[in-house]
Amino acid sequence: MIEGKQLKKSFGKQLVLENVSFTIPDGAVVGLYGDNGIGKSTVARLICGTLRPDAGEILLDGRALVSDYQPYDRKRGIVIQQVFQQPHAALDPSQKLLSGFSELIRYHRFATNREEERKLTEQILFSVGLEPQILNHLPHQISGGEAQRICIARCLLFNPRLLILDEATSMLDVSTQANVISFVRHAMQKNNGSVLLISHDKDLIKFITDKVYSFTNHTLEEIIL
Ligand SMILES: Nc1ncnc2c1ncn2[C@@H]1O[C@H](COP(=O)(O)OP(=O)(O)O)[C@@H](O)[C@H]1O
Ligand SMILES: [Mg+2]
Repeated sequence: MIEGKQLKKSFGKQLVLENVSFTIPDGAVVGLYGDNGIGKSTVARLICGTLRPDAGEILLDGRALVSDYQPYDRKRGIVIQQVFQQPHAALDPSQKLLSGFSELIRYHRFATNREEERKLTEQILFSVGLEPQILNHLPHQISGGEAQRICIARCLLFNPRLLILDEATSMLDVSTQANVISFVRHAMQKNNGSVLLISHDKDLIKFITDKVYSFTNHTLEEIIL
């Protein structure tokens, strides 16, 4: 379970978040809904440790991951993975997808030999609805939807406790979005992992989440859509 407690964040004189608290239970798909510029990505960045809160803390299984007096615990934080909006920007354009994928597996030692690596790759791609052959392509040879699934697959290699999708599917058409998110939900819930789905699209959030937070005066409130 991941919890935010009384988080505060300002940029210079601009207050963005104040008294922000939330709970992301294991196995849940939690939505974060709000207009552009309201602070959604700021919440995501606090959770994955690319921003420090001015006050408050974030807990993983009851223990602080970060707080105003403790820097982000990167070792424990690796179980939180984030998928970004522009999938093609996250992929090396000069490298076949396979190289990037095996580099990641080898660097983090997700597999101990070639056979294990092949099996893991197949299984992870399958969970996002892709055939292994897609890895023979260069990033520009695949569609936005496929590229986003590849980015999600890369995150899934970490067997994350939480996967954050920050407007990660908003460039896809509506049916592809729903499809990709259904795959993600299934893949994550298989291991009791959770998903934080961040979007300004009410229908998308309503369609797929168990619980929704929205912004009121810099604070998060649980709402029913
Ligand atoms: N690094 C930053 N420096 C200064 N202002 C920022 C920074 N990041 C975000 N902001 C400001 O904080 C507000 C919330 O941004 P953001 O969390 O990205 O919103 P959202 O994701 O909901 O569109 C915006 O007004 C934005 O301009
Ligand atoms: Mg944003």
